[in-house]
Amino acid sequence: MLGFEDNIRGKKGKSKIIMLTAYDYQMAKILDEVGVDLILVGDSLGMVFQGCKDTKSVTMDAMIYHTKAVARGAKKTPVIGDMPIHSYATVETALKNARRFLEAGAKGVKIEGNKPEIIRALIAADIPVMGHVGLLPQTAKAYKVRGKTLKEATQIFQDALEIDGYGAFSIVLECIPESLAKRITENVKAPTIGIGAGRYCDGQVLVINDMLGFDESFAPKYLKRYADLNKIIKNAVKRFMEEVYSGAYPDKEHTYH
Ligand code: KIV
Repeated sequence: MLGFEDNIRGKKGKSKIIMLTAYDYQMAKILDEVGVDLILVGDSLGMVFQGCKDTKSVTMDAMIYHTKAVARGAKKTPVIGDMPIHSYATVETALKNARRFLEAGAKGVKIEGNKPEIIRALIAADIPVMGHVGLLPQTAKAYKVRGKTLKEATQIFQDALEIDGYGAFSIVLECIPESLAKRITENVKAPTIGIGAGRYCDGQVLVINDMLGFDESFAPKYLKRYADLNKIIKNAVKRFMEEVYSGAYPDKEHTYH
């Protein structure tokens, strides 16, 4: 029987792959019902859920808590667990933690950067791995586009080729020039999934809170907002406050008799 990774691989060059992040049951259920290809429990939850300045303090326990909630909502969509910083420092810890993700309901894990020993060991243990090159938030000193110099672009290209060679089922390309993403996409077997990497990737991923417009102050160039939930939520809360103050709510219709 073909695994979900074969389905994702099979889309390369045929149809675009859609991945979105989710951190809770209800959002996962919505994404599942709409029919995205993959749901990533990203360590971006450190920022959008926990309110930290980056992803560097996200723990395995937090990732497992959110993965379990997401997996309950994602009835048919494969869930990918993002291995947080320090969770794959050695082959032994990587295997132990990746298995925790699978037990929590994930179908595979994502690893930041070119980690030959770790990625090979996970794949050898039948754990599907999604690679990630370009901007790597767990180790980045600054959040900016990567691969603009020839040296950096060559390194990112080489890393993507190697991760492809280890057998990753897909590779996230984060914040790199479109031309570099195109060259990688054309030269790897695994589908590429871009965020801030332009049009030529095999798929696209966004952080769900960002694309739904929760935080008006977060506005990187690549981000398109598909909804303005910040405004919608504020308006709903203001209406609720007004109606409670005026006595319009609760009315007869919303009261037990
Ligand atoms: O943590 C995350 O949400 C990610 C995506 C942006 C790819 O790594």
